[in-house]
Amino acid sequence: MARPGPLINVMERAARKAARPLMRDFGEVEQLQVSVKGPGDFVSEADRRTESILREELHKARPEFGFLMEEAGAVAGSGGSRWIVDPIDGTTNFLHGIPHFAISIAAESDGELVAGLIFEPLRNELFWAERGQGAYMNRYRLRASERGRLADALLATGIPFGARAGKKAFATMLGAAMERTAGVRRFGAASLDLAYVAAGRFDGFWEVGLSPWDVAAGIVIVREAGGMVSDLGGGSDMLHGDSILATNPRLYNDIRKLLTEAVRGRSLEFTD
Ligand code: IPD
Repeated sequence: MARPGPLINVMERAARKAARPLMRDFGEVEQLQVSVKGPGDFVSEADRRTESILREELHKARPEFGFLMEEAGAVAGSGGSRWIVDPIDGTTNFLHGIPHFAISIAAESDGELVAGLIFEPLRNELFWAERGQGAYMNRYRLRASERGRLADALLATGIPFGARAGKKAFATMLGAAMERTAGVRRFGAASLDLAYVAAGRFDGFWEVGLSPWDVAAGIVIVREAGGMVSDLGGGSDMLHGDSILATNPRLYNDIRKLLTEAVRGRSLEFTD
């Protein structure tokens, strides 16, 4: 039976408190889709409000911790620990009334990720893990999948958009994955993509160009579920680097090879 430690309790309390108004906001977003102004400003406000509730709750419980937050950026603390927070991961889904978004909170101590929690309020799925203690969804232990054949693997990814670099490289990797796997999904919330790898729903996930708050909590949860996480080069720069790859333990080498060989000899940002 799962026994959440004090850090997880703090994160869960903050996430549940912030999720209540967020769910009400989500109900209203659907009404705003058809208004002339659209839901843009409303969602930015929901994002800011969620972040400030999380910040207040987390600060109350651990006043010495600093922050790295999507909206407020880096806020120094008085010790070596900080929270890394994404108030709404999946903002574009939220904006369009698509019910797939999450609150993501990680705790980092002396540069090491020590705990992560991802809360998907609409399904009441709380994914959480502390270093060395295993990963859980609500009260159930999570384990990455056991699938060992690339042809059976279901992958998730994020598609670069707008001004983001790397669209050609992405298209090349996607083409390779389409050929060799059971399918590729793009659900629009990287934290949940990682949580789903931990839960064995996806066998692998990769994306280029994410920010630390998108992936920090998920990294801990995937590792604690027995999954593998690295950057696409096989190194450990997935928090502040440019790419992330998370897989079940059996398919890590095959998936990494598949994606990197597709773009061999080119930078991940190649634009030709
Ligand atoms: C986004 C989501 C999405 C990913 C984007 C991120 P946000 O985060 O995680 O899945 O593809 O690259 O920016 O902006 O909704 O917090």
